[in-house]
Amino acid sequence: TFIVGENCIKCKHTDCVEVCPVDCFYEGPNFLVIHPDECIDCALCEPECPVDAIYSEDELPEDQQVFLELNAELADVWPNITEMKEAPADAEEWAGVADKLQHLER
Ligand code: SF4
Ligand code: F3S
Repeated sequence: TFIVGENCIKCKHTDCVEVCPVDCFYEGPNFLVIHPDECIDCALCEPECPVDAIYSEDELPEDQQVFLELNAELADVWPNITEMKEAPADAEEWAGVADKLQHLER
């Protein structure tokens, strides 16, 4: 599966959802996740993210392993998203900021 990692938090550009052939992105207030049971590993979404927040499971950094569980957990409760929408107005300011997990809204 592919995993949405920390840099999506408060950036949420949503370019990723447009290319997913199986529509397996789910949307929370300031973050998106991929449903691990629905992702077919096509890898199309990874290069679409302007802030490089998407990883294949094998390449997920050590310090982001918690996002494996988070994607699985939140994909079950958040609504599906299939169309791109406008990013938050301050998305650019949050790109690459460290320790954004504390800002995740559920
Ligand atoms: Fe969708 Fe493919 Fe990305 Fe999986 S790897 S979330 S199937 S676009
Ligand atoms: Fe997030 Fe990147 Fe998609 S910021 S919403 S993973 S395009």
